Amino acid sequence: MDKILVLDFGGQYDQLIARRVRAEQVYAEIKGFDQITVDDIKENGYKGIIFTGGPNSVYDPQSPHFDPEVTRLGIPILGICYGHQLLAYMTGGKVSPSLGLSEYGRTEVVMHKNILFKGLPGHSICWMSHTDSVTEVPEGFSVTARTDRCGCAAMCDEERKLFGVQFHPEVTHTEYGRQILVNFIFGICGCRADWKMDDFITSSVSRLREELKGKKVLLALSGGVDSSVAAVLLSRAIGSSLNCVFVDHGFMRKGEADMVENTLGRKLGVNVIRADARERFLKRIAGVDDPEKKRKIIGEEFIRVFEEEAEKLGKIDILAQGTIYPDVVESGKGSSAVIKSHHNVGGLPEAMDFSGITEPLRDLFKDEVREVGSRLGIPLDLVMRQPFPGPGLAVRVMGEVTGEKLSLLTEADAVFREEIEKNGLEGRPSQYFAVLLDDRSVGVMGDARTYGRTVALRAVTTDDFMTAEWTRLPGDVLDSAARRITNEIKGISRVVYDITSKPPATVEWE
Ligand code: XMP
Repeated sequence: MDKILVLDFGGQYDQLIARRVRAEQVYAEIKGFDQITVDDIKENGYKGIIFTGGPNSVYDPQSPHFDPEVTRLGIPILGICYGHQLLAYMTGGKVSPSLGLSEYGRTEVVMHKNILFKGLPGHSICWMSHTDSVTEVPEGFSVTARTDRCGCAAMCDEERKLFGVQFHPEVTHTEYGRQILVNFIFGICGCRADWKMDDFITSSVSRLREELKGKKVLLALSGGVDSSVAAVLLSRAIGSSLNCVFVDHGFMRKGEADMVENTLGRKLGVNVIRADARERFLKRIAGVDDPEKKRKIIGEEFIRVFEEEAEKLGKIDILAQGTIYPDVVESGKGSSAVIKSHHNVGGLPEAMDFSGITEPLRDLFKDEVREVGSRLGIPLDLVMRQPFPGPGLAVRVMGEVTGEKLSLLTEADAVFREEIEKNGLEGRPSQYFAVLLDDRSVGVMGDARTYGRTVALRAVTTDDFMTAEWTRLPGDVLDSAARRITNEIKGISRVVYDITSKPPATVEWE
């Protein structure tokens, strides 16, 4: 399989670059600049390397650099933004602060003919975001694009197959970005488009069958997309040697736990053991209103229930996990501020004794996991589900979680989702749900005063959940959701719509 290395210098688009490459059916792997050496690169047989952007200035002593030997390996390199400046710097060019000439956003670029821009017109719109610029191209390079403010918006040395672009070809705002990446991957690196999901399934199943032969494997099934797809893939490989423990903590959406059990267990023949721990979880978080404490208790209790169920199964050899590529890449990165502890329920139990771990999805992005899932026959309503926090509805009930509050929220959330889906809007927000507030408010129903709870509806649109816009849902959809919630669910007297984006708010309320 042909591979492209995405060498990460701290840019925010590293995963996007890798996804764009994979969308062309070429496997791309992200490595931090400090996670790989030139020798590793030589051994790994990469067909091309992309240097990502990054927030630094190449002259800053703290800025990320890489062994310049990489430019002499004969492997084609494409430097993007900071990667373009670094490539210039490494090969003897000059980079300077643009002094008041920074460019951000849509920018018109004049391009000259070269193999990276093959098939492109002479002018196009690109997405820029930089302060420093290449002010002198290294020997052997020529300038291949300019803007009004930037004398070297792109450069290349075709002979050595070294290319740099100041703009971001990976973002959709760059008109011919896809064509530029295609030219690099196929025209310059000579990759074959051989990264296909069907091949992935066939080769994973035979590899897992071989690796796990005669072993008893245990998977913590959270009910989410990743662990469900991992379960079906592993079950294809090893059948009943796979034991999936599905801890039902009672905080899933209406009907969801049954759907997971029925679909995986009955329809797809996965060996699912459902542990009904709903009462137990409610008892454990009774009286707790601090969001972080709730998350922590739920995470710990999940592991405890999982361990108890696993113990009943006797000696287990291998623990399987639904880890996906962004989880692997994220955990390999430096520490960023913890806003919320996003531990997914099903973290690694410490008290258990395994001889190994298997993570069959660790090379895949979320959209690839969904594709594998649907190719494995998992129905779309399961694999295409919107993200859902591990601690579930417990972090959408503000304050203390009680059985009564939980059931009000479960019903309100189901009505809201139904209204969105009934109006064919499910593809529009990236995530939509209801939240139950802790306060009561006064209402009036049939001449009588009510004093019920308030539900907040939330819908957000985002690519990566790092930032999000509140979704402008049609007023009549919100109206019918509010009417139905207050009419059909006794105890709720007010519905509000959350119109804050992230930042300053987060997607979830807790
Ligand atoms: P926030 O609220 O941080 O959410 O803006 C961003 C995305 O992460 C999801 N989320 C979680 N996912 N465990 C998870 O697996 C958690 O504890 C958790 N908290 C938030 C949230 O639903 C949104 O998609």
